Amino acid sequence: MELSQNKTILIGITGGIAAYKIYELIRMYKKNGFNVKVLATPNAMHFISELTLVTLSGNGIYKDNFEINEYKPEHISLCDEGDILVIAPATANTISKIANGICDNLLTSTCCAFIKPVIIAPAMNTNMWKNPVIQDNIKKLNNNGYKILPPESGYLACGTEGNGRLCGIETIYNATVETLNLSKKLKGKKIVITAGGTVEKIDPVRYISNFSSGKMGTALADAAHLMGGNVRLISTFDINRPYEVTQVQSALEMEKEIVKHIHNSDCIIMAAAVGDYRIENYSEQKLKKTNEDALTLKFVKNPDILKKISQTKNDKVKIAGFCAESENLIENARQKIINKGCDYLIANDISRKDIGFSSDDNEVYILDKSLNIKHLEKNTKQHIAREILEYIFE
Ligand code: C5P
Repeated sequence: MELSQNKTILIGITGGIAAYKIYELIRMYKKNGFNVKVLATPNAMHFISELTLVTLSGNGIYKDNFEINEYKPEHISLCDEGDILVIAPATANTISKIANGICDNLLTSTCCAFIKPVIIAPAMNTNMWKNPVIQDNIKKLNNNGYKILPPESGYLACGTEGNGRLCGIETIYNATVETLNLSKKLKGKKIVITAGGTVEKIDPVRYISNFSSGKMGTALADAAHLMGGNVRLISTFDINRPYEVTQVQSALEMEKEIVKHIHNSDCIIMAAAVGDYRIENYSEQKLKKTNEDALTLKFVKNPDILKKISQTKNDKVKIAGFCAESENLIENARQKIINKGCDYLIANDISRKDIGFSSDDNEVYILDKSLNIKHLEKNTKQHIAREILEYIFE
């Protein structure tokens, strides 16, 4: 199997009873030619045997032994060696620590420093899983690019029936292979993605903007990074990512930043909600309230960045735009792709409360230049992002 050659899987085992199931997972990875290194939390070692893990993985076990390993701190050397980190079973404790950047053992420290894909397979008592704090932490991890394999329903070791059982070992194995495969799809591709809503300043304290949360653009950048792409995110939000992020405010700043990269990219995806207008005369001083009942501000048109770059780009660059519509979605999208001249237009219906602006989910239609339409059914923005990239780079 070509994929497994030279690939190292780091398995993080935490202190839940489902830890015993990981013996089988290690066997499956090894049988298929992967190199496996096990990191165990101190609590995990109550449930599993070091000798069994060493025998199955063919490697030593990485625990909190604070031994000096050559010249590198161990969590950093493991980050260099591993191609993927799979945490299974992941307890509520470890999930919450990772979600909050806590690094109090070798596994949580490694996870914090790891910039390659991380898969998390939670397992716990039903009430712990349903606890809103744990659900918030899961959501946070999901939004930050960690892949969560949700637990299943069934008989639990605590004697109850319900949701919380570790998902199947085959599910974890398949997700690992799929993620590793994915990380080769955009290798060598330079991808520029915009996210967020532009901010058009009126005076030093006031501005006009829009409700864009930046979630779709950020999900696209995260997915492109996981798929091995060389990503540059141009965002109106200040976020930290393991790839290049440039923060901009206005449409003009966004345009300037995009233009720098247009001839040196394979793909530009404009997911940002760019303000169509900006104030004509920015006031250096705060505008004073007057005795008049009304205030008139004059706005001028911003450049249509998508249209401009679609007209000036070379054939090698694929350009995709977004179109948020509250009515006649497909018809408006057809008109828009013709008018803008981009290669793809991704249309979503913002009249629906369950998808689009600020939501964690989306449902979109991708139009291409020949006006073919591909429907992507409602799913998380992370999932939709991956499907969009797969379609564009098919
Ligand atoms: O024309 P409309 O604003 O609906 O088009 C949306 C698409 O065009 C998005 O991809 C958005 O990023 C882009 N856009 C742009 N410059 C503008 C307005 C929108 O590039 N001034």
